[in-house]
Amino acid sequence: MEVRITDDIRYIGVNDYDVDLFEGQYMLENGMAYNSYLILDEKVAVMDTADKIAVDRWFANLEAALDGRTPDYLIVHHLEPDHSAGIDALCEKYHGLQIVCSDGALRMFPNFCDTPVSRVKSVKEGDTLCLGAHTLTFYMAPMIHWPEVMVSYDSKDKVLFSADAFGKFGTVDADEGWSCEARRYYFNIVGKYGKQVENLLKKAENLDIDFICPLHGPVLSETIPEVMKLYKTWSAYEPEDRGVFIACASIHGNTLEAAEYLKEALENKGCPRVAFADLTRDDIAECVEDAFRHSHLVLMASSYDAGVFAPMSDYLHHLITKTFRNRTVALVENTSWAPSAIKTMKAELEKMQGITVLDKTVSIKTRVTDAVKAELDELAEELLKTV
Ligand SMILES: Cc1cc2nc3c(=O)[nH]c(=O)nc-3n(C[C@H](O)[C@H](O)[C@H](O)COP(=O)(O)O)c2cc1C
Ligand SMILES: [Fe+2]
Ligand SMILES: [Fe+2]
Repeated sequence: MEVRITDDIRYIGVNDYDVDLFEGQYMLENGMAYNSYLILDEKVAVMDTADKIAVDRWFANLEAALDGRTPDYLIVHHLEPDHSAGIDALCEKYHGLQIVCSDGALRMFPNFCDTPVSRVKSVKEGDTLCLGAHTLTFYMAPMIHWPEVMVSYDSKDKVLFSADAFGKFGTVDADEGWSCEARRYYFNIVGKYGKQVENLLKKAENLDIDFICPLHGPVLSETIPEVMKLYKTWSAYEPEDRGVFIACASIHGNTLEAAEYLKEALENKGCPRVAFADLTRDDIAECVEDAFRHSHLVLMASSYDAGVFAPMSDYLHHLITKTFRNRTVALVENTSWAPSAIKTMKAELEKMQGITVLDKTVSIKTRVTDAVKAELDELAEELLKTV
């Protein structure tokens, strides 16, 4: 697929409709796109390559778009294997081609490619590369999503080549809104590095941007203001929605029944938004996304081996690694002999910053009785005071 973005810039990326798992852990409903671009000027620049799964198709797209021309530069914004699998083949075919990347990427380069580093030129913050009418300016974007990442800006066509920033799961043509899969992508892939994303947004604010060309997902243009606004909210760890996300891990189904009761109670009492997940079944990455999205989180789990049921401890581990923070959390446990879930969940929450745990907790003694329901109603009231 070769698509014209501007007069001189082509999309030469690849859609993979078959892949169902990304980076060994993210389930894909609508495949994945490995994006790459070509700038045809006096000099010709290739912007990144693709994943090995798609590298042959990427090369065919490139050759078609080159239409007999010879590339002068390969700009490597990100060295991760999903973007660097075509480097060696490209350098083998085009002997005069020079690779341009960050200092960090140059240091890591021999671990990823056989191409001699003598063909690699590194650039620093603010360095430029003139292609003729187009001049690229490079900006370092460490930890979005790896340390060697940089982005580049073409001042002629006002294009930001944003690496993994502003990317999403799904093929470019997936029939879905941008924010859902971009949010899941953001919190799971770059969520830990909010400060670094804020730094990049500050740099982007000073640029006049008509197109954002990320390494995954669609090219963005009209929606840039709303996308920037969402990235601002996400990178500041601010909730996008006032509302409650209930995450439940139940062995025998009693806690699940309580979770469903609490969901209904919140809805009946007028909670602006209630989301719900069964941690034993649902996609953990989606559950991470939903925790960040909402202002309030309710964790509900069975006691288990003097701790908490594994899907919940697993979930909390994910939240810790993504530096989940600044939210109000309520706790509900189930116990048949020695309550241990609330205590264990609390200890995990203490490892996070800015978490307010509600004093009101509910400890269910196996079955969801009327007395338990009354307590859950009380908990719903308590949550609604700050939602
Ligand atoms: C392997 C296993 C370990 C458990 N460990 C504990 C425990 O340490 N303390 C406790 O009170 N209950 C423990 N339980 C019991 C459950 O927490 C209890 O039956 C609870 O009511 C289950 O709620 P649920 O129906 O939502 O799963 C354990 C259950 C299983 C299967
Ligand atoms: Fe990446
Ligand atoms: Fe990527």
